[in-house]
Amino acid sequence: MEVIRVKDYDAMSKEAASFLVERINRLKNPILGLATGSTPEGLYKCLIEEYKQGNVSFKDVKSFNLDEYVGLEKNDPNSYYYFMKDKLFDHVDISLDHVRVPNGVATDLQQECVDHEEAIKAAGGIDVQLLGIGANGHIGFNEPGTPFTSKTQVVDLEESTIQANSRFFNSIEEVPTQAVSMGIETIMNSKEILLLASGASKAGALAKLINGDVTEDVPASVLKNHPNVTVIVDEAAFAVVDGK
Ligand code: F6R
Repeated sequence: MEVIRVKDYDAMSKEAASFLVERINRLKNPILGLATGSTPEGLYKCLIEEYKQGNVSFKDVKSFNLDEYVGLEKNDPNSYYYFMKDKLFDHVDISLDHVRVPNGVATDLQQECVDHEEAIKAAGGIDVQLLGIGANGHIGFNEPGTPFTSKTQVVDLEESTIQANSRFFNSIEEVPTQAVSMGIETIMNSKEILLLASGASKAGALAKLINGDVTEDVPASVLKNHPNVTVIVDEAAFAVVDGK
């Protein structure tokens, strides 16, 4: 696991953007695994800027998102499909036929999970998977205790995750309690993984990832078993590792 320390959120976003631009330009038909949430927003802004400046094109990119809330339609402003369109897809030359965000309102959610897995396999697997990290150490919506052998599945969100994500909703009651999420094994099957962490709220989780054991109690710790992981972290997220 390579750890790159940067000053702050903006530096993390820029570093992550040049990392991804390099991969997108190098790979012929890049298959990206994408994340939502506050962490990658700055990265997506930088990618749009790189695209506008002609430094990168998404026309041959295919993407698969990590997760989607159960019960939110695509056009719901809190759905992750909407987030991706709003923050990235609508501003670059990616084809919407080449993006797949799990369908959280599928009539058969189990089948939707199988379909997500199959679509990733059919595309040839994910080249670069982007991840954030939950304050509880989750990756995707794989909460502590999720087996490392998990595939895409319907998951129950922890109370702490519902609480953390309620900042995007009008009230906590509106936050869905379930999501469709790629499993840990799905994530680990990616050829390369890029995890971003910024801010003091991630410092505890990051310390467990960097200094702790590999355990299902800290889902992100599984990344230590992957041969090609880069973590870009800002100073605030590094505080506990530094013993501050
Ligand atoms: C998002 C995802 C989650 C987030 C994590 C951190 O698609 O799968 O694991 O990456 O909850 O969220 P933020 O970035 O909002 O702190």
